[in-house]
Amino acid sequence: MTGSSTAQDRQASPIAPATGKLGILTPGLGAVATTFIAGVESVRRGLSKPIGSLTQMATIRLGKRTDNRSPLIKDFVPLANLDDLVFGAWDPIPDDAYTAAKKAGVLEDRDLEPIKDFLSTIKPMKAAFENKYVTRINGTNVKTGSKREQAEALRQDIRDFKAQNGCDRVVLVWCASTEIYIKAGPQHATIEAFEQAMDASDEAIAPSMLYAWAAIMEGCAFANGAPNLTTDVPALLELANQKGVALSGKDFKTGQTWMKTIIAPGMKARMLGLAGWYSTNILGNRDGEVLDDPASFKTKEESKLSVLHTILQPEKYPDLYEGFSHVVRINYYPPRGDNKEGWDNIDIVGWMGYPMQIKVNFLCRDSILAAPLVLDLALFSDFAQRAGMKGIQEWLSFYYKSPMTAAGLQPEHDLFIQQTKLKNTLRHLMGEDQITHLGLEYYA
Ligand SMILES: NC(=O)c1ccc[n+]([C@@H]2O[C@H](COP(=O)([O-])OP(=O)(O)OC[C@H]3O[C@@H](n4cnc5c(N)ncnc54)[C@H](O)[C@@H]3O)[C@@H](O)[C@H]2O)c1
Repeated sequence: MTGSSTAQDRQASPIAPATGKLGILTPGLGAVATTFIAGVESVRRGLSKPIGSLTQMATIRLGKRTDNRSPLIKDFVPLANLDDLVFGAWDPIPDDAYTAAKKAGVLEDRDLEPIKDFLSTIKPMKAAFENKYVTRINGTNVKTGSKREQAEALRQDIRDFKAQNGCDRVVLVWCASTEIYIKAGPQHATIEAFEQAMDASDEAIAPSMLYAWAAIMEGCAFANGAPNLTTDVPALLELANQKGVALSGKDFKTGQTWMKTIIAPGMKARMLGLAGWYSTNILGNRDGEVLDDPASFKTKEESKLSVLHTILQPEKYPDLYEGFSHVVRINYYPPRGDNKEGWDNIDIVGWMGYPMQIKVNFLCRDSILAAPLVLDLALFSDFAQRAGMKGIQEWLSFYYKSPMTAAGLQPEHDLFIQQTKLKNTLRHLMGEDQITHLGLEYYA
């Protein structure tokens, strides 16, 4: 036995089946959203493989190692099928998905032209957008009226999209620009205060919060791919719990931070010290341009900086990690487009205090790394909600730089603990044994 009970003792949670169509709506139809949509359509037409997606490619071990049961996750849990996905978006820039993808410059013509017919049909709805929150973007495709009126209009958009496309369910994944840094305040403390602030068009209510409020009111799961505060405030958490809506965030964990959450746990596992970690990036896409604004960068910086501190726990290991220096820079450099280059210089400390260095030079493609995360988050968020999971979905921490957690809990940043948590949550929901990796039973 691997635990105190067997799979046979355990009841699978009642999970509503993934019948009908699932609408995936993205605030933002830029590089990430178009790369995601184009990729799904390519996979559906047999032109690509869903590389980078756990829901499509990963297996999950069930029972003992000697049982030889390792189905694909998508065959184990009832997820929406790729053929049942329908896409929609909001964006202040009125370009359809084909034009937006061409401008983003992530995918090459050989991948875009065969699906041009499909991408051209996806036209963004008018955005709830204010230049004040994303200063580097100017768009004409925007809603007018008070914040409350805009939020109500977003609800109507969701209802119309659902009806026009015959969707059973809809999920929202935030793929829009990073908003300026906002701290949670009294306007976000309760549902009443939040709604009053919407009525008063209070500046503490950012556009992303209007989408989140609208999604929750319409019973749609919401995943936040950017570091904006958005749903991470008491008012919206409470509303989501009341409405039975699954939330997760914040900030897709794709390039440099993904690497950090692999390397830092490895150093800590070996009790090696850290004197400093210097990370710098050059990036030339629109996201890079938005992050060139110090107010938007501050939101990103907070998200990137918290990771090492939480993994290394200097308060617990002062001899190894107290006072390490952590610097993160993002430099907007147009020639590179979406192909980011990141450099990490890691000053580590070994036996008797001897210094060593690790250098990482990561030539990555931002949206190529982010697109499969959008797919997984949409499918898992929909699944979670059908399984009766509401509020913060901590088991989806795997996908985020700043995972949302219950108040007072330290987030888990270690990628492999996050992966175990994700898979054990799936096992739990499906009535299978947890895998503890104890393994003593093989030697009894
Ligand atoms: N690609 C990655 O690796 C990665 C990783 C983590 C987070 N992110 C985040 O994902 C988001 C999208 O990245 P991207 O590269 O696609 O950026 P992008 O600039 O190409 O696209 C963002 C789009 O959002 C639109 N937008 C801005 N405010 C909006 C609003 N209020 N409503 C609707 N649309 C709005 C913009 O007009 C733009 O078209 C960014 O916030 C980015 O920081 C990306």
